[in-house]
Amino acid sequence: MERLQKVIANLGYASRRKAEELITKGHVQVNGVTVKELGTKVNPSDQIIVDGNLLKQNQKVYFLLNKPRGYISSTNDEKNRKTVIDLIKTKERIYPVGRLDYDTTGALILTNDGELTNLLIHPKNQIEKVYIAKINGILTKEEISKLRNGVYIDKVKTAKAKVRVKKYTKKTNTSLVELTIHEGKNHQVKKMFEAVNHEVIKLHREKFAFLDVQNLKSGEYRIINPKEVKKLYFETTKK
Ligand code: URA
Repeated sequence: MERLQKVIANLGYASRRKAEELITKGHVQVNGVTVKELGTKVNPSDQIIVDGNLLKQNQKVYFLLNKPRGYISSTNDEKNRKTVIDLIKTKERIYPVGRLDYDTTGALILTNDGELTNLLIHPKNQIEKVYIAKINGILTKEEISKLRNGVYIDKVKTAKAKVRVKKYTKKTNTSLVELTIHEGKNHQVKKMFEAVNHEVIKLHREKFAFLDVQNLKSGEYRIINPKEVKKLYFETTKK
């Protein structure tokens, strides 16, 4: 929610002072009702009309991408590598919610909603992320227990995690492990496995909160619908 005069000014319709004047003089309608009070709060879905002109508020957009390998999770890159933004057709200035490594694939949200972004990445809100890691070797019971209870990365203990070994392939001596965490430290999954002496060969994020990418091919994306956006906001208030 933002103050009406600020929204009118930010949309480039008038200066802040002029916007205040327009409001107090009764030139502004919000959702069909004339508003003369300064400081009235509006949100992006409110309809604002000034002297009969409908103002187009910045539309919030939300995408769920199945990130392919070989893309960087930022809006630009000094090394000129491809970024996840290149994959999405939109006129809005979007950015990724958190990061996936260059070689990591899977669920990544992109949006221009700064408020939701901050809520989703704030550690206190404990948004669950499910990763599938292909690692070398086989996890011992002790290693699984360590991963579940927390390992030290950069001298800080990780929070409790869920660990499920899905498959072991003898021929290649590799395992597929599902790891569910709600933190988002830098390279967290790779470092957690490193802490128990296993290298991550491949990493895929299957799920971010309740959003999974099972129906999206690598590089494909879809719009996150308004009901899901609401649910994402709700997820951040649960803890
Ligand atoms: N953990 C990692 O190590 N890399 C990622 O891309 C995401 C989580």
